[in-house]
Amino acid sequence: MTAKLGQNIADAKQILIAEDVVAIPTETVYGLAGNALSLKAIARIYEVKDRPKFDPLIAHVPDIHAAEKLVTSFPKAAKILAEKFWPGPLTLLLEKKDTVPDLLTSGQPRVAIRVPNHPLSLQLLQELSFPLAAPSANPFGYVSPTTALHVADQLGHKISYILDGGKCEVGLESTIVGFHNQKITVYRLGGISIEDLEKTVGKVEVQVNTSSDPAAPGMLKSHYSPGKKLILGDISENLHTRKRQNVGVISFSEEFDVPKENLFILSKNSDFKEAAQNLFVALRSLDRPDISEILAEHFPENGLGRAINDRLRRASV
Ligand code: TXA
Ligand code: MG
Repeated sequence: MTAKLGQNIADAKQILIAEDVVAIPTETVYGLAGNALSLKAIARIYEVKDRPKFDPLIAHVPDIHAAEKLVTSFPKAAKILAEKFWPGPLTLLLEKKDTVPDLLTSGQPRVAIRVPNHPLSLQLLQELSFPLAAPSANPFGYVSPTTALHVADQLGHKISYILDGGKCEVGLESTIVGFHNQKITVYRLGGISIEDLEKTVGKVEVQVNTSSDPAAPGMLKSHYSPGKKLILGDISENLHTRKRQNVGVISFSEEFDVPKENLFILSKNSDFKEAAQNLFVALRSLDRPDISEILAEHFPENGLGRAINDRLRRASV
């Protein structure tokens, strides 16, 4: 099978109604989508991604109203966040109804839900009568795709259609938030910063687990792996000790003395948003046979810098 790339919503819809999978664009990363209420479609997603069944999937819906249909309650803080950030890079963990398959949530009592902010996928969701389960459209453990070609490169032989919505605007996965006893907990840093969440609902707790324990889904330590050793630290120092090697460099805004094709400056103007957009492209591009290692540096620990650091750290494990 070779995936067709296109912008035909009717084609995507037909495949999804037949309980098969389609790659879809979102503002964060591309997703591998299937009917979230169909066991057959969910099983296909796990199979295509080679993903262990203990790692649950996010349900994508067109609006808050559709989200409400999947849950037994919608806490006030969750409502405020949904109203403020949807459509957008925010995923809410809410108590699921029995109609939501256990296979989707890996047996967890909560279901992860979000409304993606991309015109093609929003229209697709509006036209469908069911939500779409969609993990990032990469083989399990690899860097998430931010263009349709990234998806085609890795999953193109396994799926029939990729809805091509161009380059993802955010470039990092959604921020995942849960609610318990009046407490708001962030389980994955992502496209909405902690500062933006706190401006809206007050103090949140950050519980970004880095265990390799399958009982802590969504927080697997080694993830977003570029397939090359990534060394996180002072780039100049690390370059110095690797003079005779052909290393790749991912810097925030500075130039380094390495061949042009080995250097990715994420944002010459030190803009977090631009840096986030380019991060996964850089990690993928440097996953080349001639590159021995990738050198990267820590970002300032605020705003999207925190989420960027989180991905770099996981990529370096
Ligand atoms: O931006 C995104 O969130 C992208 C786009 C496609 O929407 N999706 C994405 O999905 O990143 P995925 O499957 O690659 O990552 C979702 C994370 C997983 O690590 C999973 O363990 C966690 O969310 N998750 C999903 N459902 C959960 C649940 N019911 N309880 C706890 N964690 C959950
Ligand atoms: Mg993923």
